[in-house]
Amino acid sequence: MKIFLDTANIDQIKKFNELGIVDGVTTNPSLISKEEKDFYSIIQEICNLIDGPISVEVISTEPNKMIEEAKKLSKINKNIVIKVPIIESGLKVIKKLTDDNIKVNATLCFSVGQALLAMKAGATYVSPFIGRLDDIGHSSMSLVKDILEVITKYNFATQIIVASVRHPQHVIEAAKLGAHISTVPANILEKLIYHPLTDVGLKKFLDDWKKSRLTL
Ligand code: E4P
Repeated sequence: MKIFLDTANIDQIKKFNELGIVDGVTTNPSLISKEEKDFYSIIQEICNLIDGPISVEVISTEPNKMIEEAKKLSKINKNIVIKVPIIESGLKVIKKLTDDNIKVNATLCFSVGQALLAMKAGATYVSPFIGRLDDIGHSSMSLVKDILEVITKYNFATQIIVASVRHPQHVIEAAKLGAHISTVPANILEKLIYHPLTDVGLKKFLDDWKKSRLTL
């Protein structure tokens, strides 16, 4: 499973990219606005750091304006993927951008029906927001499973990006189901790395080595 970093924070991107585990980045208007920096310089910096898909979202809802924004954004770098919400005008935009060879991440997906329509319109990626579904008491992982089933049954080329990840178990469950990608916030990646028994075990090894007076 590929791992994308779900952030617009340059320090976080640099840190995890150095670990060799980042295949791409997803941003959204909320993540970008948190950084309080110039929008284009953030995106350009991410593109300089990561050689993989970088999702950037349009902010209009009117189709012609969305297409105009998408074209402007896609000129920043060859790796830019345009995030388009799955609404009626969004489907029209997904189709148009795909026809123009611009990759689309169909975002704010909360149902199999929405995913199916986005895939039919040609989306390269579809992003089910699992944490937000869990928040309202839905079984989010069954959505991922069902979308994967539709992809397999009809041989769609669309890849799932499991988004709105809230805890390590979401990433593990996504991997077990065979999701193509999980987009993971930095704090969840940290939790995935950490295990208390690793720290206890390492301390014991290093203490025993020190006592032995051996040298490497
Ligand atoms: C990624 O594409 C989404 O924008 C992100 O995962 C949303 O996460 P949130 O529900 O924690 O805001």
